[in-house]
Amino acid sequence: MSESTTLRSLLPRTERGCHFVAYGDCCIGPPEPGRGHEEHLAAVHRVMHQLDPRPQFVCFLGDLIWGLTREHGPNHDGDSLRQEWAVKLPREMKPLTDLDVPVFRIPGNHDTMTPVSEAVWKEVFDEIPQNGPEGQEGLTWFERRDELLIIGISVYAMNMGSPFTMMGGRVDCDWVDRILSEHSDAKFKFVLGHSPVHPVNGYTAPKWGMLPEFGEPFWEVLARHHVTAYLCSHVIAFDFQVHDGVPQITTGGAGTSSGPGGCMPAPAEYHHCVQLAVDDIGLRGQVLDTDGTAREEFQWPLPADGVMRWSFQSDALPPKPSRVLLTGQNENEAYPRIRVSLDGYQPRLNVTLYDPADVYPCSWHGPEIDIRYPFELTVAIDPAMGPGGVLARVGSGPYSSLATDEPFGYKADAWPENWEASTEIPVVDAAD
Ligand SMILES: [Fe+2]
Repeated sequence: MSESTTLRSLLPRTERGCHFVAYGDCCIGPPEPGRGHEEHLAAVHRVMHQLDPRPQFVCFLGDLIWGLTREHGPNHDGDSLRQEWAVKLPREMKPLTDLDVPVFRIPGNHDTMTPVSEAVWKEVFDEIPQNGPEGQEGLTWFERRDELLIIGISVYAMNMGSPFTMMGGRVDCDWVDRILSEHSDAKFKFVLGHSPVHPVNGYTAPKWGMLPEFGEPFWEVLARHHVTAYLCSHVIAFDFQVHDGVPQITTGGAGTSSGPGGCMPAPAEYHHCVQLAVDDIGLRGQVLDTDGTAREEFQWPLPADGVMRWSFQSDALPPKPSRVLLTGQNENEAYPRIRVSLDGYQPRLNVTLYDPADVYPCSWHGPEIDIRYPFELTVAIDPAMGPGGVLARVGSGPYSSLATDEPFGYKADAWPENWEASTEIPVVDAAD
């Protein structure tokens, strides 16, 4: 793609709204030669410059510098860290400066992992508002601009007792709750933190996400305040999932090579940036790879088109090891393309999806259903949303993505042709 090619930005569809780019994780300057971080980042920056109109602002979600010593330990030498920032900001990050739009940034585990690197970060980015929780000034912050509230969180803050990244991220939930309460009139609320709260692509080890001890109360706050989205990075992937009605958007594609094939994993994942637009109708985005191709698109709330949805209604049920609620199958295929079941004596919803191009079906899990009482359960599948696009809600509660280790969602070339539904737990409403 030539430099002069323009890429159409998604724009707000109503008068109120904004559009912006989110990206993160380039870890400029790793000691091993040939990892290509700088080349990937340059390509991502070229794509950002092709966007028309240019984004109103950019969110950089952490891990800009390498930040470690050659022996891979945290760098406790302030002077060499200062030098790293002094070289890399005007060199590899010049294209971001040249975009000439506001940049909202948070530190990742490569940027701040010691008291020294936190102090250097505060020196380098002294324009960051000093309005974070006590001990996190200049690291954690919020900005209010008209209808927009952005909260940036340092999830490895030393004053939260963070031992680098091996025990996940952590958050001062009370502070986040207070800021969201004070700005409850903001129409659009984005929260930025480096690490995912909900596991991405099966990267469930604590170092790849937020400890549940911090993540669960944090998410309760985000859901209670109807936050527009939580944006994160750290895992070298793009991922969109929804929990309690709030999207978690992971974009760790700015250049770092890590994981199988250089991403987590490639080729399902690829280097990219995300262009987003939010308005009164909802949130939309496109994931632009290093050639400027929109490889994935997403929107929330669920669109009316292209999504299959079934609501099941049931009286109280006796325990039973397994109940199949629905299957959708094509002739002469080994497995149903879609299979919805309740399994276990304290049953849990399971959805398996099968692409005839694969050997086996893949599975999605959750939530638990209390069958001792009448219940209503809705399952939705949005193929555009990838692995997070298998969702459920109980009664009239909010949607949540089901848990999976897969890096893709429903990817068969068409919906199934032949459907079979349970008579014990009937489908009372369906849409596609
Ligand atoms: Fe990271």
